[in-house]
Amino acid sequence: MSTEMLPGEVFTAKDATDVAREAARRLGAALRGAISARGRASLALSGGNTPRPAYELLAVEPGVDWGKVFVFWIDERAVPATHARSNYRLAKESLLERVAIPPDHVSRMAGDAPNLAEAAADYARTLREKLEVADGVPILDAAVLGVGDDGHTASLFPGEASVLVRDRIVLDVAAAPEQQREARLSVTAPVIERIRTAVVLATGAAKHGPLERVAAAEGDLRQTPSRVMRGVRGSLTWILDPAAAGR
Ligand code: 6PG
Repeated sequence: MSTEMLPGEVFTAKDATDVAREAARRLGAALRGAISARGRASLALSGGNTPRPAYELLAVEPGVDWGKVFVFWIDERAVPATHARSNYRLAKESLLERVAIPPDHVSRMAGDAPNLAEAAADYARTLREKLEVADGVPILDAAVLGVGDDGHTASLFPGEASVLVRDRIVLDVAAAPEQQREARLSVTAPVIERIRTAVVLATGAAKHGPLERVAAAEGDLRQTPSRVMRGVRGSLTWILDPAAAGR
């Protein structure tokens, strides 16, 4: 199974720098397009290692009126906002501190809340209040997603029922100490499916196997939660380096 069979468009970049450049270009275009169509744009960010250079380049994309952009998160780890593993901190350092975005346009997921179930419910309310909603599901103009070596996306992990949840839009995800993973907050499949422009970044050979499992016509969502991307109704672009693409 080749990654060319992935749903949506596949862009194989020259290298990791080229992945970041292409991602910033696509996200910049999505934000400019949303602002010109609807007067504002929403952007949801993921964590991990791959997005940092893309966020840095997005900060200098020309023509994005950051005063009209509203920023959200796809997922967050249960750590303080200043922690090295905080997805908020990553976005703050690489993007948000570098652009003129009003502080009240940034809606952080409270990974450091004492009660993550409540934090998930609060974030669901925030998304519904601040975004256009269709059938109870908030619509994000643009979002950055990733693929884990184990096939997870957002914080929807293999072997768990979280990827099957359809009656909530934000979940608290339990810690998995045996995998050195802290608890998380994550949006659910219905939110991912409604993204208008989804940009998925994947670099390195370890991503090739999971990407092949997403590309396969048949497969188990619970085993490979990234298959949730097959349901994206908007535009979906995979930006891969040659190793992730299997070249
Ligand atoms: C997170 C993520 C997660 C990420 C993948 C890929 O907070 O960990 O949002 O879903 O996108 O784990 O991460 P890498 O970019 O590090 O490979």
